[in-house]
Amino acid sequence: MVKLAEQRARWDSRLIFLFAAIGSAVGLGNLWRFPYITYKFGGGAFLIPYLIILLAIGIPVLILEFALGQKMQQGAIGSFRKINRRFSGLGFLAAFVCFVVVAYYAVVMGWSLIYMLGSLHAPLPWSGEPEKFFANNVLQRSAGIGDIGSLSVALVVALAAVWIAIFFCVFRGVKSIGKAVMVSMPLPFILLVILFLRAITLDGALAGIAYYIRPDFSLLLSGELWLAAISQVFFSLSIGFGVLIAYGSFNPLRQGITRNAFVVALADTGLSLLAGFVVFGVLGHMALVQNVPIEDVVKSGPSLAFAAFPQALSLLPLAGIFSLVFFVTIFFIGIDSAFSLVEGVTTVVRDRWRRIAVPLVAFIVCGIGFISGLIFTTGAGLYFFDIIDHYVNSYLLVAVGIVQCILVGWVYGAEKMRNYINSVSRMKIGRWWDVCIRWVIPLSLGILMAMQFITDIRAPYEGYPQWAQAIGWGIIILPLAIALLMAFLPSRPSPAAQR
Ligand code: PHE
Repeated sequence: MVKLAEQRARWDSRLIFLFAAIGSAVGLGNLWRFPYITYKFGGGAFLIPYLIILLAIGIPVLILEFALGQKMQQGAIGSFRKINRRFSGLGFLAAFVCFVVVAYYAVVMGWSLIYMLGSLHAPLPWSGEPEKFFANNVLQRSAGIGDIGSLSVALVVALAAVWIAIFFCVFRGVKSIGKAVMVSMPLPFILLVILFLRAITLDGALAGIAYYIRPDFSLLLSGELWLAAISQVFFSLSIGFGVLIAYGSFNPLRQGITRNAFVVALADTGLSLLAGFVVFGVLGHMALVQNVPIEDVVKSGPSLAFAAFPQALSLLPLAGIFSLVFFVTIFFIGIDSAFSLVEGVTTVVRDRWRRIAVPLVAFIVCGIGFISGLIFTTGAGLYFFDIIDHYVNSYLLVAVGIVQCILVGWVYGAEKMRNYINSVSRMKIGRWWDVCIRWVIPLSLGILMAMQFITDIRAPYEGYPQWAQAIGWGIIILPLAIALLMAFLPSRPSPAAQR
């Protein structure tokens, strides 16, 4: 164990770990996903469940993942395995989720590269017809999921560029990541403050912001709303993916944990809220200009940041500059999340096959990531994205969250883990943490997942054809089967156990 800890790669400093963890958490989930989900659920109505879930589930799990990686000095598979050999499959599931998510995450970053180039044109290529530009020029979207269309060449090139950038950030493991995050973490914060100052000084912005923060208690009984809040919290904090377990594993055994977790959660939530002010300020302005109610300004959905927002920016003076700032922000906010997802995969590979050189592992994972992402650059890409995102996030991710809490809470012992956390952290956590890990999280996630299952069985998700739903189910059943096999087949002892 001591030998293992000595050999493990290390962050250069505690601050770099913090930058990397914030960089991972703060991403497209804040600037792109949070605003459109909030808009979809009626603005202020979404904020209350979001904040409750953050406190009751998000922060306890964040502490758990930091602690688990740090205590076990291994990525997800190794950490779970050390608690109980049969649970190594859980780490595999987490790594699988990372892989699927980064495959489309990189594509969204590719969109932002295309818009970045577009911002250099005057007039902006999307002004007047943003939806059309997004659908026809960027996505080359087909009529439906059954019509796969062809690869969008621009998008394939953009995707390749994104993967090359990711590769250079991860090819030396934590050493190169430590350098990259010094730029990629703070830059989006600064750029977003510039956009914030612009947005709140627009005519009509205040009406948009009022819509955003006005609470609406009538929706609180909707299960769908709570499930959306849960997947948003998991996605946004990067929990349930094993990524923060990997990041924690590069810390020395005796480093403080709790305060770091709170800082990451605060930075992440702060940035989402800030992004909300920017987006709703701009929506308020558009509502005024177009003279329509704010809920009708644009179609909510994944295109919010890529269709409505560029359009709004194109109405401003210095449109090109603000658009450029916005898309550079999206790119930089995304890249440190993307490479953390890659690191979630490479860490488990490296922990298992120690002889393979770090750059080679990075190259293979990035190469396969690029190839798998090609499906999202086809005409039907957005539909595939929608289906896969739905199934993976509502089931696999939540399942990892549940089982991980059961494993640590009941098998390892919540109290034992809490004692470790408190022994290294200046900020102490109380019994409430045990209760969250053992009861609150598994039960609430379990109930919501069951509700989602019933909904999906009753009505196929978004009305996609049956074969498409089958792909969605397949993508969760296959890795589940592998994880179960890993649990029940006799296996070679882990490299850690061999020492
Ligand atoms: N948290 C990132 C975001 O909000 C996404 C992410 C999830 C990154 C999981 C790493 C691991 O965009």
